[in-house]
Amino acid sequence: MRKLLAPSILAGDWWNIGEQIEATLRGGADILHYDVMDGHFVPNITVGPELLSHIRKRVSVPIDTHLMIENPDTYIPRFIEAGANWVSVHIENVVHIHRTLTLIRELGAKAGVVLNPGTPVGAVEEALYYADYVLLMSVNPGFSGQSFIERSLDRLTALKELRDRINPNCLIEIDGGIKENNVAEVVRAGADVVVVGSGIFSAQDVEAQTRKLKELIFSAVAV
Ligand code: DX5
Ligand code: ZN
Repeated sequence: MRKLLAPSILAGDWWNIGEQIEATLRGGADILHYDVMDGHFVPNITVGPELLSHIRKRVSVPIDTHLMIENPDTYIPRFIEAGANWVSVHIENVVHIHRTLTLIRELGAKAGVVLNPGTPVGAVEEALYYADYVLLMSVNPGFSGQSFIERSLDRLTALKELRDRINPNCLIEIDGGIKENNVAEVVRAGADVVVVGSGIFSAQDVEAQTRKLKELIFSAVAV
């Protein structure tokens, strides 16, 4: 299975966000990761569907929308209308996960379920049957630039076992604190999609940094 690199674009310089996105695409970014925070589910506020619709007009790669918000069902149709191709919701705050993932799929997007670092991996067992991807958080959601929680590697291995048994077509995505030094390790442990925020955008040359991470991912798979 081809491994995908997903720059977390809101970790970039918002003044030059268009240029920053283009630089990641020239460097080989496969999809764009778009973090939505509401100040309730997580202690930070970011952006809504409007900015997404502007990005959608300029790029053709999938936009992977990570909803860290309360009552996601209310907003899912607007994000998909704005151009989100992948939409993920947290298992911790969705009461009817089957209904929510089905809604995302019915609206034509890929449906993802997200696990916070404190949530047992088994909590997504049932959702794996009807999810297109599962996102394992390797930091507590809310901010870019946090350190990778080491325990996430064992959790990734456990999640991969569960995924292989229940639904091998479901992709595993990892998000939080991924950098040059640990990207190969998470890919070898089972991540199919790797989100990188500060590990790309804190570099002077965003294009070169994206390319470097892609190469690291590629060599990790080749081993
Ligand atoms: C955290 C977000 C992440 C974050 C990644 O709440 O979901 O996508 O922006 O940034 P880094 O890679 O810097 O941890
Ligand atoms: Zn995210």
